[in-house]
Amino acid sequence: MLYGLASAAPTTATWQSLFNLYVELGTVAGVVVIAWLLYYLVKYRARSSMAAKVEAKEETWKGAVATLAVTGTVLFIVQFQTFASFGLIVPPPQALTSGLHISVVGRQWSWTFIYPNGYSSGNLTVPAGQDVVLNVTSRDVTHSIFIPSLAVGIDATPGRNNVIWFNQPQTGTFVIRCRELCGIGHAGMFTKLVVLTPSAYQSWYSKLGVAKA
Ligand code: CUA
Repeated sequence: MLYGLASAAPTTATWQSLFNLYVELGTVAGVVVIAWLLYYLVKYRARSSMAAKVEAKEETWKGAVATLAVTGTVLFIVQFQTFASFGLIVPPPQALTSGLHISVVGRQWSWTFIYPNGYSSGNLTVPAGQDVVLNVTSRDVTHSIFIPSLAVGIDATPGRNNVIWFNQPQTGTFVIRCRELCGIGHAGMFTKLVVLTPSAYQSWYSKLGVAKA
């Protein structure tokens, strides 16, 4: 679970469907191109008759038009989906209004998570099934927070506040990594995301409040 995809999360499901679409389009394009290549190899093999040469020259134009049409169609679909995918990391309105907002600060070479009550920790603990909004920045150089299992991540840039969100419906422990080369300690810049049941989270969080007071 630490590294596998948590496919129940909405961000992961969308990412997975986009990935599947790319694989399907790639397979179709590959089959068409290779079949076409083999067909032309046989059809336009070296022959000496003038009629065959004239035919080959005429067919070149048809082939070019057909190639452009197929390429254009595939490019159009992929471009459309790619631009649509840019919206994936933008939190939906309900996440912004009713989600759990946590500030994340990256530095060489650790992460700090700051909760609404001011408590800060090197690990991220959240309740299952709730929208979690991370407001991400950096204290020194550019880092990039990445939770591979949830297929979410964003750069931690000094002077900027970058926002991502996720909703993990099942409890578990997941790795959080830095995915931007940020210095000699980059490889060690990881921590964990702990997803608790909502009641376990509430009890954990309320104890933090008591400890702080
Ligand atoms: Cu921080 Cu790599």
